[in-house]
Amino acid sequence: MTDVSAEALHELTAAGIARHEARWLVDEFLPGGDPDAKVLLQAAADRRLRGEPLQYILGHWPFRTLDLEVDERVLIPRPETEELVGFALSELARARVTAPLIMDLGCGSGAIGLALLSELADRGVVATLVAVDESLDALAVARSNALKHRLRAVSFVHSSWYDNVDVSLRGRVDLLVANPPYVGRNALAQLDPVLAHEPLGALVSSDHEGVEGFADLAQVIGGAREWLAPTGVLLCEHGDTQREAVLRAATRAGFVHADDYDDMAGKPRVLIARQS
Ligand SMILES: C[S@@+](CC[C@H](N)C(=O)[O-])C[C@H]1O[C@@H](n2cnc3c(N)ncnc32)[C@H](O)[C@@H]1O
Repeated sequence: MTDVSAEALHELTAAGIARHEARWLVDEFLPGGDPDAKVLLQAAADRRLRGEPLQYILGHWPFRTLDLEVDERVLIPRPETEELVGFALSELARARVTAPLIMDLGCGSGAIGLALLSELADRGVVATLVAVDESLDALAVARSNALKHRLRAVSFVHSSWYDNVDVSLRGRVDLLVANPPYVGRNALAQLDPVLAHEPLGALVSSDHEGVEGFADLAQVIGGAREWLAPTGVLLCEHGDTQREAVLRAATRAGFVHADDYDDMAGKPRVLIARQS
């Protein structure tokens, strides 16, 4: 670290920015300690001090092996979603599908589906991805991330869940992954105010049958079997109070096996429902 960078790091932490975040900002906006870039760094620091998430200020964020473009059009990909990708890779390995068809419902930045395509390619598996979102803004970001990482076997579908997905895919999807909005409106008010910068439609869902924030999960789980291949698997991220509800919904939908797994923080987080 140059003297200029060290001095800038000190100034940012003294202004109230956490040291690890200040480090990200200095590395991004003052590369090599170029003193002329200090104006840009100050503007970025001001945005952070006004409460904007670090990831949007940087404009990109790591997710598994990818560096994804992120801005206020998409949810910032979370570490627990990286864990879902790990579970999905294990499921595909277990099912031994040679050229899997994957559907990512509510793709946002493309995090889950693109990470899967990329990591499967690293293992010599050629997968195809259908990335679905009802937000055209999110689809634009996902498309840009696919281009950035040269992931070409993707089609982007503007759809509310399954509504506009090509019917020819029914019964053919090997892996259906989803991280739908699952925060209830009341719960949102109690969460970190930094969430106010993320798209509301990516976070909040209506209540369903007395379960807060469950309406979108209910639709995704309830409709999944129609699209899955006979050996297909559904993986859904969900809120930590929704374990019973996702398992109930999977059983009601007719899945033969349904299990739910904790995230690394020990909180209920990932439903895995199998057709066979
Ligand atoms: C929690 S974010 C997940 C984004 C990304 N998959 C990730 O894990 O970082 C939920 C995504 O679902 C999308 N979404 C919300 N309602 C939807 C609907 N009815 N149909 C399709 N996508 C929807 C949002 O636009 C948002 O991109």
